[in-house]
Amino acid sequence: MLGTVTIIGQGYVGLPLAQEATRSGYKVWGFDVNESTVSNLNNGLSHIDDLENEDVQNMIDGGYRATSDPECIKQSEIIVICVPTPLGEGGTPELSFIEKATSTAGKYLAKGTTVVLESTTYPGTTEEICLPLLEKESGLQAGKDFSLAFSPERVDPGSNKFGISNTPKLVGGIDEKSTEEAKKFYASFVDEVVSMSGTKEAETAKLLENTFRHVNIALVNEMAKLCHELEIDIWEVIRGAATKPFGFMRFNPGAGVGGHCIPIDPNYLSYEVRKELGYPFRFVELAQEVNNSMPNYVVDRIGEILNEKRKPLNGSTVLLLGVTYKPNIADQRQSPAQPIAEQLLKKQAEVQYHDPFVEKWELANGDVIERVSQLHEALENADIVVLLQAHSEYDVQRIKDTSIVFFDTCGAVESSEYRL
Ligand SMILES: NC(=O)c1ccc[n+]([C@@H]2O[C@H](COP(=O)([O-])OP(=O)(O)OC[C@H]3O[C@@H](n4cnc5c(N)ncnc54)[C@H](O)[C@@H]3O)[C@@H](O)[C@H]2O)c1
Repeated sequence: MLGTVTIIGQGYVGLPLAQEATRSGYKVWGFDVNESTVSNLNNGLSHIDDLENEDVQNMIDGGYRATSDPECIKQSEIIVICVPTPLGEGGTPELSFIEKATSTAGKYLAKGTTVVLESTTYPGTTEEICLPLLEKESGLQAGKDFSLAFSPERVDPGSNKFGISNTPKLVGGIDEKSTEEAKKFYASFVDEVVSMSGTKEAETAKLLENTFRHVNIALVNEMAKLCHELEIDIWEVIRGAATKPFGFMRFNPGAGVGGHCIPIDPNYLSYEVRKELGYPFRFVELAQEVNNSMPNYVVDRIGEILNEKRKPLNGSTVLLLGVTYKPNIADQRQSPAQPIAEQLLKKQAEVQYHDPFVEKWELANGDVIERVSQLHEALENADIVVLLQAHSEYDVQRIKDTSIVFFDTCGAVESSEYRL
């Protein structure tokens, strides 16, 4: 046994990390405040896309236990914090999850422990929020009695290519010893662990990664809109540009951005810039504006297409395909399908949906829509079929051929009269 680890937060980030640490020979406690998550995990049931029930059972066989009892922290040499960092009122960072998890860690912290924060957050959180909280709750001194580092998660849910072990891991500690202790832990299951000179550099690197995606997606989204006006096919434009072997990276337009990272994390950076420096981070704010406009743009385009067919949105059946935030996963967090459905319902359209990963779809207003039971029949009957996520289970060409009118928002078919 390599040692004992407590991973605080057993969600999309914490659970795969617990799996890797268990596999590499650590005794792992998965600490979570959600009792039903804990009991499901201990019964071998996974609640995230990247792990099957069988994987959780293998973890249990390897010594993993989920728990809501923080006593496990006392016996652990490593504590990793993987709790949510959503946005609060007015789009500002909501750090209460990090604060609560850090306080819990501090209350049970033993001398010699290494604490690592993985949650995405603004620069300074590890040293200005976690460090004083840990010291206050434990009565111990950071750097002397315990080590502290930040190591951002880079999970790509649903990816077959990149997992924890083959994605390089950044580690920045409050001092050299903290960086080394955290590196030692990750090196037991990650191929390449990269040192950063401090926690702020590691925190900011993660925000740069997500902001880079956010801004580039906004760029192609805006290009998609103007290409449509100019009657130029954006997908062909991207296909052409992507043949350049240097200086270009492909990003695709879409119905909007979703998930826990892209719509949220760059706000942490712009908040910090405004708070510390007093001016806006214009790229982030512009990207936010463009990406947030996409669901409404898709609804406008649906209206235009129906209008061409001499049909009003009011009373037309709109079948949405794929309501998760990206293909081939069940995660619906911040999915653009939600505002699209709400707008369509407001305009009195008959909204139907299909998604192989979502059996019942709950809208933000609490309405629950049933998935169409016969996809083929629904395709034949809907006034318009809108592809929002091209799950690999979908035969998109066949879907297009079966539909009366087909609107492709993800560039999934070779050619279509109606594309984003
Ligand atoms: N999901 C992703 O693809 C992804 C990728 C990279 C980074 N991140 C970052 O990782 C962090 C965690 O995200 P996630 O997707 O795993 O969230 P999640 O919602 O899937 O899981 C978080 C878990 O933490 C638990 N929790 C909340 N407060 C707690 C507390 N005080 N003590 C113990 N458990 C607590 C919740 O019950 C939940 O099970 C976020 O900062 C996110 O930005 C997420």
